[in-house]
Amino acid sequence: MPAIVVVGAQWGDEGKGKATDLLGGRVDAVVKFNGGNNAGHTVVIGAEKYALSLLPSGILTPGCTPIIGNGVVVDLGVLFGEIDALTARGVDASKLVVSANAHIIASYNRALDKVTERFLGSRRIGTTGRGIGPAYADKMSRTGIRVQDLFDEDLLRAKVTGALAFKNQVLAKVYNRNAADADAVVDELLGYRDRLRPMVADTSLLLNRMLDEGKTVVLEAGQATLLDVDHGTYPFVTSSNATAGGACTGSGIPPTRINGVVGVIKAYTTRVGEGPFPTELLDAQGDALRAAGAEFGTVTGRPRRCGWFDAVIARYAARVNGVTGFVLTKLDVLSGLAEIPVCVAYDVDGVRHDEMPMTQAEFTRAKPIYQLFPGWGEDISGARSLAELPRNARDYLDALAEMATAPIAAIGVGPGRDATVPVRDLLTGR
Ligand code: GDP
Ligand code: IMO
Ligand code: MG
Repeated sequence: MPAIVVVGAQWGDEGKGKATDLLGGRVDAVVKFNGGNNAGHTVVIGAEKYALSLLPSGILTPGCTPIIGNGVVVDLGVLFGEIDALTARGVDASKLVVSANAHIIASYNRALDKVTERFLGSRRIGTTGRGIGPAYADKMSRTGIRVQDLFDEDLLRAKVTGALAFKNQVLAKVYNRNAADADAVVDELLGYRDRLRPMVADTSLLLNRMLDEGKTVVLEAGQATLLDVDHGTYPFVTSSNATAGGACTGSGIPPTRINGVVGVIKAYTTRVGEGPFPTELLDAQGDALRAAGAEFGTVTGRPRRCGWFDAVIARYAARVNGVTGFVLTKLDVLSGLAEIPVCVAYDVDGVRHDEMPMTQAEFTRAKPIYQLFPGWGEDISGARSLAELPRNARDYLDALAEMATAPIAAIGVGPGRDATVPVRDLLTGR
């Protein structure tokens, strides 16, 4: 039975939450494998709208085990706040499992995220300010606090005190901020210990046993391909591996057990935060896409930068993730346009690039080469089969799939769970 990875193919907010939810009742576990509460995944079920941040979208499916994998960075205050808010709405969060190896976002990580961004000024990344980068930096520099450390108070105190010995110098001497008090940090974390304890497990063991038993597991990415710390538009990226490889390291499921990779991609492109974006529209057309697609950040409420579909990026995402099927979302947002431009290649200093340029400097100078596709006037939000889509919409989809080098497995025509045109089975790819 399958283990399926769901990744974002652009700069995030492609509709991963909806795509994961679509797999719904056929899935036994959904594991989040990277990121933290920088993610904002919206799932619309009937009249109910849920904005999930740290919790995997599987939490909304009765019977599904939601898992926070070892690759995630966990803000415990946010975790319990989200659980309480969902419970108050009648969602059963009691099956949630958290990896003992996941790292914790401490208050000093949040403080450093905000202060570093301010310090960078015009060179800032435009982070979500949730402490994501500093928590992953601690993980890599081997000074991070892990979930399991909460259950050994002496170890926790020693680790926090050790980390702060350096960080307080930075906070006070570089950024002119108050130093963090180690005891206060430890007390805050210990305050979550008893509530957390029953949720904690060896999630790699749990997941591999589930696969042994023939169960179906979905691995849900936060962020997206171009925000991946290795494969994205570095340094304007998040601090984790949001591509399909991260699904293995961030969950403890080996590559040999992954059966398919669903790439979620919008019918146009958006980006939040700083960094290059070749097809960005800084004019009224960009504003129109933002309004039609309600493109405002789920986490920070920031207006998303909007632009046309970029086939170079789609091809790149297909390649680095091994996409077996795309879920193309928000096709409905393009209805009413006379012509739809698609970026088919870049011009970099007079040279045509059909693939992602090798360097960021080249990517930053890339000018889109557009091909125009005829639009459609019809409202397609009620379409539930390919045959119900206008001819021009189907031609647009065929062209995108060919340029993206992977088939389109489902098409989103509205935010709701049912507002979908299924083409292939997302679990089997057939
Ligand atoms: P994620 O971070 O990838 O899960 O995406 P977000 O939830 O941040 O952003 C996607 C937004 O688009 C959400 O508000 C969804 O409800 C909405 N959405 C998803 N699919 C579609 C679609 O096919 N059409 C429309 N109009 N909205 C969609
Ligand atoms: P989902 O999962 C869109 C962006 C931030 C910033 C950069 C680094 O909803 O697609 P960070 O706080 O992670 O250090 O910020 O990454 N970013 C996202 N943009 N969707 C997301 O998540 C994002 N998570 C981070 O805007 O540019
Ligand atoms: Mg989002």
